[in-house]
Amino acid sequence: MKNVLITGATSGIGNKIAEILSNSYNVFKTGRRELNQENYFRCDLSNCSSIDKLVNSAKDYFKDSIDILINCAGQYIYKPIEKMTPAETDYLLNLNFKSAYLLSGAVIPDMKQKKWGRIVNIGSISGMVGEGQATLYSATKSALSGFTRALALEVAEFNITVNQINPGWVETPLADCLDETEKQEVIDVTPQKRFIEPVEIANLVKYLISEEAKGLTGQNINLCAGLSIGC
Ligand SMILES: NC(=O)c1ccc[n+]([C@@H]2O[C@H](COP(=O)([O-])OP(=O)(O)OC[C@H]3O[C@@H](n4cnc5c(N)ncnc54)[C@H](OP(=O)(O)O)[C@@H]3O)[C@@H](O)[C@H]2O)c1
Repeated sequence: MKNVLITGATSGIGNKIAEILSNSYNVFKTGRRELNQENYFRCDLSNCSSIDKLVNSAKDYFKDSIDILINCAGQYIYKPIEKMTPAETDYLLNLNFKSAYLLSGAVIPDMKQKKWGRIVNIGSISGMVGEGQATLYSATKSALSGFTRALALEVAEFNITVNQINPGWVETPLADCLDETEKQEVIDVTPQKRFIEPVEIANLVKYLISEEAKGLTGQNINLCAGLSIGC
């Protein structure tokens, strides 16, 4: 069985990805909350010194290298640019972009050696179109999509694929920042008139990491109930 490391696996989308993949993969999870599980390492990914410790814990658990990396951890900050503090700015850049970049760099050498690997980044539709009041969130997700394309090129000849899923609004604790009126507004502006379910993202991840998807690389896939295609 292949070995998968999933960040942001304690809640929402990452939690569903872990649940779905655990039937056919060895899964190692990370998040910030306390969980007493053998296949779990608690760390704050906004702190870049966590990266090596996380990768080493996963490799100790697998007694082997990481074949598949799912970069899902992330947070959303909705406020005008002039209200963003330098500390919040560093925090979101580190968590939403830099941790995925550094983790990818940490797992690529083993993938190259095995001549097989899969990386899936969870972006956002806000990185594909702009989202006012979420400028840095949008920017981190745009950065991730540029990184996805560039890294896919860099590792293509090693049979390593790198892809990104850009969800629209998904029903998870992250979306609890919306009140009932705002949730209805999201439904009204979404062509399919609904939120995405975490299982839809998890099933696409399952396909992207499969052998069948070996020719799919460097792609940004908008799983957004039509939100990105206009109104
Ligand atoms: N929900 C949406 O509408 C939506 C839409 C587009 C994109 N996304 C993206 O999907 C991804 C997952 O979001 P979600 O909706 O599943 O949110 P969620 O339910 O709030 O889960 C976020 C996950 O990230 C982890 N996390 C947060 N801050 C962290 C930190 N500093 N260090 C390490 N882990 C941290 C959380 O762990 P703990 O809770 O244990 O701290 C949790 O496992 C994010 O990248 C988000 O940007 C979500």
